[in-house]
This record gives sequence, C-alpha cells and structure tokens, in this order.
Amino acid sequence: MKIALGSDHGGVDLKAAIKKHLLDAGHEVVDFGTDSHESCDYPLIAEPAAKAVAAGDCERGILVCGTGIGIGIAANKVPGIRAALCHDTFSARASRNHNNANILTMGQRVIGEGLALDIVDVWLASDFEGGRHERRVGEIADIEKKYQ
Ligand code: RB5
Repeated sequence: MKIALGSDHGGVDLKAAIKKHLLDAGHEVVDFGTDSHESCDYPLIAEPAAKAVAAGDCERGILVCGTGIGIGIAANKVPGIRAALCHDTFSARASRNHNNANILTMGQRVIGEGLALDIVDVWLASDFEGGRHERRVGEIADIEKKYQ
C-alpha cells in the first residue's frame, strides 16, 4: 500500500519507527517530514500529506504529533479527509469499519511505540463495512460540501 507519512517535531521519533515498520512490511512510504527535532508547525506537514491522500496519490495516511490532535484537526480541513485519532486498537479498527478513516493520527507523547505499531497494523488491515455506515460517511461529505 502507498502510505503518506508525516509528523511535526513532537512526533518525529514515532514517525521514524512507523516508517521502518511500514517499509519492513513491504509498504511504499511517501514521507512528508519533518526529519528533525527542531520545532515546526504541524499544519504545514498535515496539509500536503492530507492532499496526497485526498487526491488519491496515496491510499492512506498516518500523521503523528505530540498528541495526535493538532495534526488531525489540520488534516481534516482538507476536503475528503477523514482523519481519526486512535490510541487503542478497538478505535483503530472501528475508524476503518465504520468511518472509512483515510488518515490515522497518533500522539508520540501519549502512547508507546509498541502499541502504536500494533494500532498501525490493525488500522491498515481493517476495511470499511459500508451499509449503514456508507450513508453516514456520505452525510459527512454533504456537510463538507455545504461549507466549500
Ligand atoms: C508541539 O509542541 C505540540 O503542540 C504538537 O506536537 C501537537 O501535540 C499539537 O496538537
């Protein structure tokens, strides 16, 4: 799978671990930075990564900041993006099954690397269930259209 990956300085170490994990598993990674611990602004990483997912250049995205909150809020401003903050495998699975989340966000200052990599695996392996959830995801898109 071709996956967009990004973080600010607060998520750079977890991003590096996720990148290695994805490459070891045979995925293709498009890395939108950052690659240093120097302070940077998460919206500037979130936007191009989210755009790549919304445009279909990448199938999914994974974004990390200190909490996973800011980078997810920013990603969700790009039309077509459904970024989900998940710090447990139940939410990660549900975000795919029910919400068709196309971006996963996590916080490096919130969870450990082992759990984060498990969450990545569950999230990538889970599919959208459609059915009644299709209607609800469509209603989210309708809200988006109203404010464009
Ligand atoms: C950066 O200090 C921090 O605010 C950022 O990584 C993130 O947690 C914001 O939501």
